[in-house]
Amino acid sequence: MTETTADHRDSYPPIAEFAAQANADATLYQRAATDRDAFWAEQAGRLHWHRPFDQVLDWTAAPVARWFVGGRLNVAYNCLDRHVLAGYGEQVAIHWEGEPGDSRTITYTELLAEVSRAANYFTRLGLTAGDRVAIYLPMIPEAIVAMLACARLGLTHSVVFAGFSPIALRQRVDDAQARLVITADGQWRRGKPAPLKTAVDEALSDGETTVEHVLVVQRTGIDAPMTAGRDLWWHETVANAAPEHEAQPFDAEHPLFILYTSGTTGKPKGILHTSGGYLTQTSYTHHYVFDHKPGQDVFWCTADIGWVTGHSYIVYGPLANRATQIVYEGTPNYPDEHRHFQIIEKYGVTIYYTAPTLIRTFMKWGSDIPAAHNLTSLRLLGSVGEPINPEAWRWYRQVIGANKTPIVDTWWQTETGAIMISPLPGVTAAKPGAAMTPLPGISAAVVDEEGKPVSLGETEANGYLVLDQPWPSMLRGIWGDMDRYRSTYWERYAAQGWYFAGDGAKLDKDGDLWVLGRVDDVMNVSGHRISTAEVESALVGHHYVAEAAVVGASDDTTGQGIVAFVILTAEAEDTGKDLIAELQSEVSREISPIAKPREIHIVPELPKTRSGKIMRRLLRDIAEGRELGDTSTLVDPGVFEAIRARKG
Ligand code: WTA
Repeated sequence: MTETTADHRDSYPPIAEFAAQANADATLYQRAATDRDAFWAEQAGRLHWHRPFDQVLDWTAAPVARWFVGGRLNVAYNCLDRHVLAGYGEQVAIHWEGEPGDSRTITYTELLAEVSRAANYFTRLGLTAGDRVAIYLPMIPEAIVAMLACARLGLTHSVVFAGFSPIALRQRVDDAQARLVITADGQWRRGKPAPLKTAVDEALSDGETTVEHVLVVQRTGIDAPMTAGRDLWWHETVANAAPEHEAQPFDAEHPLFILYTSGTTGKPKGILHTSGGYLTQTSYTHHYVFDHKPGQDVFWCTADIGWVTGHSYIVYGPLANRATQIVYEGTPNYPDEHRHFQIIEKYGVTIYYTAPTLIRTFMKWGSDIPAAHNLTSLRLLGSVGEPINPEAWRWYRQVIGANKTPIVDTWWQTETGAIMISPLPGVTAAKPGAAMTPLPGISAAVVDEEGKPVSLGETEANGYLVLDQPWPSMLRGIWGDMDRYRSTYWERYAAQGWYFAGDGAKLDKDGDLWVLGRVDDVMNVSGHRISTAEVESALVGHHYVAEAAVVGASDDTTGQGIVAFVILTAEAEDTGKDLIAELQSEVSREISPIAKPREIHIVPELPKTRSGKIMRRLLRDIAEGRELGDTSTLVDPGVFEAIRARKG
């Protein structure tokens, strides 16, 4: 990153005009602190409950929380029906922009009808509440329809990013034991259709699976062979189902979705979220953090629904809050680098939420590109997924935000379900690079190994971010592996009963919080979480690789880049560049192109401690071209000369 330190006095106080109309005000913090349960009960009041809850929080079975105990609701009803019943059916829910330039406008009435058709058809397929459905779709309206139809029926969806490989899809389908997979014939990639349905066929080709049907949306017209009895076209089935469907209420703790995310071991974790608390906190945060005004704002979150940001801030939060939003299928530079700015201009986007990696990419493309567009509709900008470097923050504010829009740097995780730490626009004087303060109703701390609070202003202190109180949208477990849930998040600070986030953090002299990045073996590449173990296991899957060690090295654009060090087997022929390209594509094939190492170095040995642990910290020093840190615990410090010589 180009800049790592920032002056903590560099701060941007709210502009009076914005503050005067802001949803948030400073009293929220105080109200939440005075009576936390009452505060969350009030936020739950943003939703429609078929049956009111009896108790706000039951934490007696910690670390598994029950929020809004006894309450019953339907998540899809909250996102659709109640807006239509209140007379807002003609409001646009989704302005959808297709990659090749096609577009669709979908009102709340239309979205409700589509979701009802899908719900009716899923019912006809014999799916019942609690069953799992895998969704493997590009950013098309049907993806959102499918998620909401699942929510409506109490089916648990597991969205798998459509960039994941067949192997990664199969792993997730098997772990969740999905009965249905929803996919598309193909997806648009830079103006050309790429197959997607065939990836599902490949995923399901070997051995027994729990999958009974594959439902296929026709998107590109690319050839998609159908297996009789198993495969069904969406347009021949869902599209013909009845557009009315009565939503049934479910318990507040009914499972809503599983979303797989990388952990420190090779196997992805199925993060489980439930209904009432999740919808409460996504709605609450979308309202206050984005200062969202239904019927006025045009909201655009640029994430893919394959990630949690798409779940919480494209589907559930915004739709619960009756947002009008943009859903865009393609990439920011197709057909050219103007695409996002054209979309902002075309629809008058008012709130824009994206990742630092894209902001840095925009910086690289140059200010002339946004300057060629009328971006005056923008009134708030957001950032998520990785620490934003102060230089990118200031550029974002200056060039995209006309030096006046508030910027919300929002820290959260797949596990937290919704935003946890962020400035409140109109209230907080934000500092470039700092996530600032936990939201009202949220409690976090920065502590050392023993759990003692770190002192303010200690930049190099070993600070770990912990969440010391349960929150409504917290994960309820890891699907099928509650032991792993306990050991991953709750063991480190078991004595205190705190959630260990896996991030390093510091508090500056004013007590404002800066998130510094992962402290475990998880890398963050363009805001995507990828575990070192996952990439290592893909590499050693190649018959020429005996051992592999992978580190995330800092990268000016993507935050981190993947750098691998491999030892070859005896039978390997070191064919130089060809072999490296082959290993890179092996990782793409096993996981996804997003996990492809930026560099692979063939080395004679890996640095290990006496107990045989690979010293990743030292490899990171090498990858980032730094002087080596302490090598005294190494078996053979000389190994570095050899590695360096090979790295060139
Ligand atoms: C990182 C994405 C600094 C962090 C919502 C976290 C951030 C991981 C920020 C979760 C931020 C996310 N500042 N770091 N504003 N937001 N992170 O599960 O390391 O894909 O643990 O959720 O991203 O990534 P995940």
